[in-house]
Amino acid sequence: MYKFVVLVFILVVAAATGERRECPASFNCGYVGNISFPLTTAERQECGLLAINNCYKPAQEDRWVQLSDEGKTFIVIRVSQQNFTSIQFRDTDLYQLLQSRNCNAFRYNYTLSPPPHFHHFASLHMEYNTTLHTCNPTLRVPPTKNMFRYANCTDIHIYYGLFNHTPQIQKSLASCTKVVLPIKDVPDGNDPFTFVNADIIAKVILSQECTDCHYKQRGQCQVDSKSKFCCANVRPQENTSTSSRSWVAMNMRLALGLALSIVAALLLLSVCCLRRKLFTLTICCFWNKALSTGEIII
Ligand SMILES: *[C@@H]1O[C@H](CO)[C@@H](O)[C@H](O)[C@H]1NC(C)=O
Ligand SMILES: *[C@@H]1O[C@H](CO)[C@@H](O)[C@H](O)[C@H]1NC(C)=O
Ligand SMILES: *[C@@H]1O[C@H](CO)[C@@H](O)[C@H](O)[C@H]1NC(C)=O
Ligand SMILES: *[C@@H]1O[C@H](CO)[C@@H](O)[C@H](O)[C@H]1NC(C)=O
Ligand SMILES: *[C@@H]1O[C@H](CO)[C@@H](O)[C@H](O)[C@H]1NC(C)=O
Ligand SMILES: *[C@@H]1O[C@H](CO)[C@@H](O)[C@H](O)[C@H]1NC(C)=O
Repeated sequence: MYKFVVLVFILVVAAATGERRECPASFNCGYVGNISFPLTTAERQECGLLAINNCYKPAQEDRWVQLSDEGKTFIVIRVSQQNFTSIQFRDTDLYQLLQSRNCNAFRYNYTLSPPPHFHHFASLHMEYNTTLHTCNPTLRVPPTKNMFRYANCTDIHIYYGLFNHTPQIQKSLASCTKVVLPIKDVPDGNDPFTFVNADIIAKVILSQECTDCHYKQRGQCQVDSKSKFCCANVRPQENTSTSSRSWVAMNMRLALGLALSIVAALLLLSVCCLRRKLFTLTICCFWNKALSTGEIII
């Protein structure tokens, strides 16, 4: 008999709390500030497209993101979410190389690789970048307006600047390796270490489909088993009349759940206490056991 009561109890509690946990409009992420869709926290991955880790850790701990699964982690510096989401993060490896003026910095190539499926929902762009041409020092490139050369790295000469990529220049740079790097300043002057930056500013642009799904249909952007976009868990349009109605409905459901839980708990209690009269303590009567050992329970 009591097994049945326990079952009913579990079912009722499950029904009362079984509402899908709604995603809050924003999460507080410590020094990063409040973040909202498409960003989320690592604890609530289902609430966004890109998760920030350590949001709830003390302020001195770095918040970080990982773009692809096997990819490296980047420290989040700041986030701006006005008309679009822009997230500034630091590549600490590149940062160290630039700080120590190590020429290996120019062997980096930045192509932001977002998580799998991300492209179904949004695109990720690196703002403020430039292309540098790292060339064999024996290569002779004729001087060109707005083209700069850095020759202080032992085994490469670096050509950069806002020069016109005429067919002739493209031909002379053809044997060089092109690398894309984030910058913080106009790529000119004699020293690329002054404008190459380890802080990447990535702009997230949501697709129209996902924007509609999230903001209009209040659903979740997902991909189905056929790797096609789908808008899951769509909720009805919120307007004042329907939203107040659903508020009442939700609270009635909660109240009903609570009442049923109490009834079930009482039933459970009485069944247990009846049993206690007949048998020795059972596991289900742990509260009686605690009392009988003389502990003070407030
Ligand atoms: C973050 O959100 C909370 C609650 O919504 C609000 O009180 C607080 O002012 C916000 N903080 C910032 C920096 O916007
Ligand atoms: C956001 O968009 C509005 C209108 O579309 C524009 O006036 C405003 O300057 C934009 N703000 C930013 C920070 O881009
Ligand atoms: C570099 O910046 C340009 C212009 O903002 C952008 O179109 C391009 O996608 C960026 N390159 C990368 C690799 O993100
Ligand atoms: C760096 O990336 C660009 C495209 O973003 C590509 O054209 C170039 O070949 C890459 N360079 C290396 C060395 O992989
Ligand atoms: C390049 O190296 C020379 C000699 O070591 C040095 O005097 C010069 O300041 C360096 N230039 C840059 C831009 O690092
Ligand atoms: C609000 O909901 C009612 C009933 O579902 C509907 O008739 C009405 O058009 C909605 N209003 C708006 C502004 O969406």
